[in-house]
Amino acid sequence: MEKLKIVASARQLPEQQVTNQTLSQIMDTNDDWIFSRTGIHQRHIVTNENTSDLAIKVATQLLNKTGIAAETLDFIIVSTMSPDSLSPSTAAIVQGAIGANNAFAFDLSAACSGFVYGMSVASGLLSTRYHRGMVIGAEVLSKLVDWQDRTTAVLFGDGAAGVLVETTQDHVGLLAEELQTFGNKGDNLIAGRFANKNPFAGEISPEDPYFHQNGREVYSFATREVPNVLQVALDKANVSADDVDYYLLHQANARIVSSIAKRFGQPADKFPTNMATNGNTSAASVGLLYDELVASGQVHAGQTIAFVGFGGGLTVGAQIFKI
Ligand code: ACO
Repeated sequence: MEKLKIVASARQLPEQQVTNQTLSQIMDTNDDWIFSRTGIHQRHIVTNENTSDLAIKVATQLLNKTGIAAETLDFIIVSTMSPDSLSPSTAAIVQGAIGANNAFAFDLSAACSGFVYGMSVASGLLSTRYHRGMVIGAEVLSKLVDWQDRTTAVLFGDGAAGVLVETTQDHVGLLAEELQTFGNKGDNLIAGRFANKNPFAGEISPEDPYFHQNGREVYSFATREVPNVLQVALDKANVSADDVDYYLLHQANARIVSSIAKRFGQPADKFPTNMATNGNTSAASVGLLYDELVASGQVHAGQTIAFVGFGGGLTVGAQIFKI
């Protein structure tokens, strides 16, 4: 059966780096508090780029790296919780910008699980009549941050990363996955609420673009549910935890990552992190980590890799790849 294979990856981070020290000049916080609780030292924050700008740079790099013509793409998925606009979608903006004239394009909203959910949708498309596409996680979360709120402002960063995917009949590619959503816990992480100002509306909730999160609830949700979902994906792939070379987890919090590594009895170096330099980039984080590790040569063909996303929704997803 046809399955999804990753052909190439790319990433784009805004040039500006904002350190914890810099944040401590505009809010009551410090590097010690932030780093000890999250593992974050700094994040990249845009100056004048929007989400589509970052995503277009990723898409262009993917074309340049592979030498593939934009017209041969069948689809472009951009996973994001911070699109330029609801319409046009960020994916449609990318499609237009790179001249992918034969591709359909749409955004996918699954917060920090966005990259993994996007890969799942891509895998479904590739198992039908499509052959080639892009999955890009792109976020300008700095638009959704209340810069007066130290409980969330210190956590997030901007960035984008993506992969060019194709069908393959080889023994490489996406072996198995498990996606789960816990909508009854959704209020623990919210952002981007519109008010309804129609003239016939009754009681209306106020507009609130900003992030609000019950950090402790999200923390315990992640450490409880992510291992369950990952175990199901491993079982479906018939792969043992020891057989996985690297676990690429959503980069929300270093303590969540190390707790999951311990739960599987795996060494910390099989769970690489980059939140120290990137912060939490939501749908971009897993792709960013993957591309960094491919670029450094740590991740390469022949390995077994797990992608794991978790976050707003609340959502969780795990995928096992032979790359
Ligand atoms: N600097 C200094 N002090 C702070 C800061 C700050 N930036 N933020 C909060 N504090 C204070 C609080 O006011 C509180 O003070 P108090 O005890 O006097 O009231 C104290 O520090 C402790 O605050 P908590 O919120 O209880 O801190 P906690 O130890 O829970 O850490 C954190 C918070 C880092 C957010 C943690 O709960 C966490 O990482 N949760 C998981 C978040 C996550 O994984 N999100 C993923 C999904 S994101 C997505 O989907 C987009």
